[in-house]
Amino acid sequence: MNRIRLLEADDAEALAAVVVRSREFLEPWEPVRPDHYFTVAGQSDVIADSLRRHAEGTLLPQVILDEAGAVVGRINLNNIVRGPFQSASVGYWLAQEAGGRGLATAAVAEIVRVAFTEEGLHRVEAGTIPENFRSQMVLRRNGFTQFGYAPRYLNIAGTWADHLLFQKLADD
Ligand SMILES: CC(C)(COP(=O)(O)OP(=O)(O)OC[C@H]1O[C@@H](n2cnc3c(N)ncnc32)[C@H](O)[C@@H]1OP(=O)(O)O)[C@@H](O)C(=O)NCCC(=O)NCCS
Repeated sequence: MNRIRLLEADDAEALAAVVVRSREFLEPWEPVRPDHYFTVAGQSDVIADSLRRHAEGTLLPQVILDEAGAVVGRINLNNIVRGPFQSASVGYWLAQEAGGRGLATAAVAEIVRVAFTEEGLHRVEAGTIPENFRSQMVLRRNGFTQFGYAPRYLNIAGTWADHLLFQKLADD
């Protein structure tokens, strides 16, 4: 079964409900979100921006689906770079109630397959804060290996947080 599909304008309502329900759960692992993000209008704005960047070729924005086909998270191939790099970074989150049963692991497997086949990329990268063991497990289960440690790399929950950097290569 397909665990991911392209983000659509009609996903705004479902995504708003998910981010509201999981707001406290997601907060420690994500950039600080304005209150507008937790509304249907806010999610519509996120979707419009994502689809614009998709049309430009720099982003592959997908939703994660549960066993019943309901939207329970997001996964993106961000910063798609062509030329001699052929690389992108993957980012993802799941609703709290959808965790613990392999949906994120399956979503990463699918988006990596798309990256290396349909998109023709050579490399997919991911970064996690050192405390995010669940995310590191998702990456390791998908054959990602750590290649670096980046001090004060991304602003997560209001702090410039160190990150472990992982990658998977098409020819690994
Ligand atoms: C990171 C995140 C996506 C991981 O979610 P997750 O539920 O641990 O990952 P999965 O959906 O792959 O589920 C893995 C669990 O399902 C179990 N599982 C069951 N069937 C499975 C299967 N077929 N394949 C893989 N795992 C399976 C695993 O054993 C694991 O169990 P555990 O939680 O007891 O260790 C989630 O915690 C999250 O959204 N966190 C907040 C946002 C975030 O951190 N994003 C990433 C930033 S780098």
